[in-house]
Amino acid sequence: MPLTPAQLQSRFAALDAFLLEHQALWRPRPFTHRHLPWESQHPELSRWLRQRSLEEAEAAHNHPEQLSAPQPFAQLALQSKALSEIDPLPPVSLEPVSSRMSADVPGRKWQQIEAFARSLSFQRQPTHWLDWCSGKGHLGRRLAQGGQALTCLEYDAHLVEAGRQLSNKLGVTANHLHQDVMADDAGARLEAHHTPVALHACGDLHVRLMHLASDARCQQLAIAPCCYNRIAGEHYLPISQQGKASPLTLSIDDLGLPLSETVTAGARVRRQRDTSMARRLGFDLLQRALRGVDDYLPTPSLPSAWLDKPFADYCRDLAELKQLPSPGTQDWTVLEAAGWARLAEVRNLELLRNLFRRPLEMWLILDRALYLTEGGYDVRIGTFCDRQVTPRNLLILAERP
Ligand SMILES: C[S@@+](CC[C@H](N)C(=O)[O-])C[C@H]1O[C@@H](n2cnc3c(N)ncnc32)[C@H](O)[C@@H]1O
Repeated sequence: MPLTPAQLQSRFAALDAFLLEHQALWRPRPFTHRHLPWESQHPELSRWLRQRSLEEAEAAHNHPEQLSAPQPFAQLALQSKALSEIDPLPPVSLEPVSSRMSADVPGRKWQQIEAFARSLSFQRQPTHWLDWCSGKGHLGRRLAQGGQALTCLEYDAHLVEAGRQLSNKLGVTANHLHQDVMADDAGARLEAHHTPVALHACGDLHVRLMHLASDARCQQLAIAPCCYNRIAGEHYLPISQQGKASPLTLSIDDLGLPLSETVTAGARVRRQRDTSMARRLGFDLLQRALRGVDDYLPTPSLPSAWLDKPFADYCRDLAELKQLPSPGTQDWTVLEAAGWARLAEVRNLELLRNLFRRPLEMWLILDRALYLTEGGYDVRIGTFCDRQVTPRNLLILAERP
């Protein structure tokens, strides 16, 4: 059953209270703190998490709420689960399309598109789809199968052209327009009879769609948000009345929390990711000593070739890049091992923070849903696919009554 407007409001209020009350547990990032402020309040939990292995952390990553860790973990896990509860959207039946349609689309992306399309149970049949930040327009083409019109908006000229060619090749009539959706003239692209759809348009881009679609009085729209942290400002600007009234402030760092859930990667990719982080953590210990300052120092993202260097060269080169004193002679083996040990601690300590991942995402989704409700839309929210297909699996459906 979709949540009623009153239920949307009360869920938002409960999430807001939960996030505010426990800020000290989810704001500080274990990666940048050697000791987290909450550890002195919850020493048993801290000790328990810190003695676990990297493999144990990895196994709990996608379902931290199932971990039997000391209090207050279990209590918070229960609350997190209850507040994140959300049903799948009811599926509609879809006409299958020719396999040529998915030939140029990576497998998981096509699964997302099919699932998105199956979740669009609008009261009225759309007549004109508007694929927002369309890339090559794969989603729009999948939807425009019943002779409906299709407009795709995208600002990367190569993708616009590639989309045009694909539509021609597949015999789909579509208008691929080169458009920066943040530009002043973007509003002119929307008309009331359009049905805008946005699959994984980042932060500001899908918020922009909500404003413009609401202004243009579009009858219906569907948005699956992603990358909440891709915003122009330094802090999140809530869009609903209830969001604006909340004392919760969210930095770009905070907005990255919902995105920290990863779908299980292959062993090689995982090893590479872990090596990169263990090295950064080893270097972090070194830079604290070199500077004589016990604080985290941000470092830029580095080409993957840096992982092939001996650890000593990695540290020397990074120290030089950051204009730190030369490391001189160090026990590199010990330092590298210390980086791996810290990685295991960090990943396990993150499990507490991860309990707030989905509640924070729900808060952001509800801020959007409430905004659309205030604009006169009937709104339904739900999942459109399993989290293995994409962790960004929440969909907002809005239609005018
Ligand atoms: C994460 S991709 C999603 C693409 C497509 N919807 C999909 O699911 O495959 C985001 C797309 O937004 C486009 N984009 C980014 N900023 C934009 C802007 N200001 N105006 C229009 N498109 C933009 C990017 O080029 C990219 O194709």
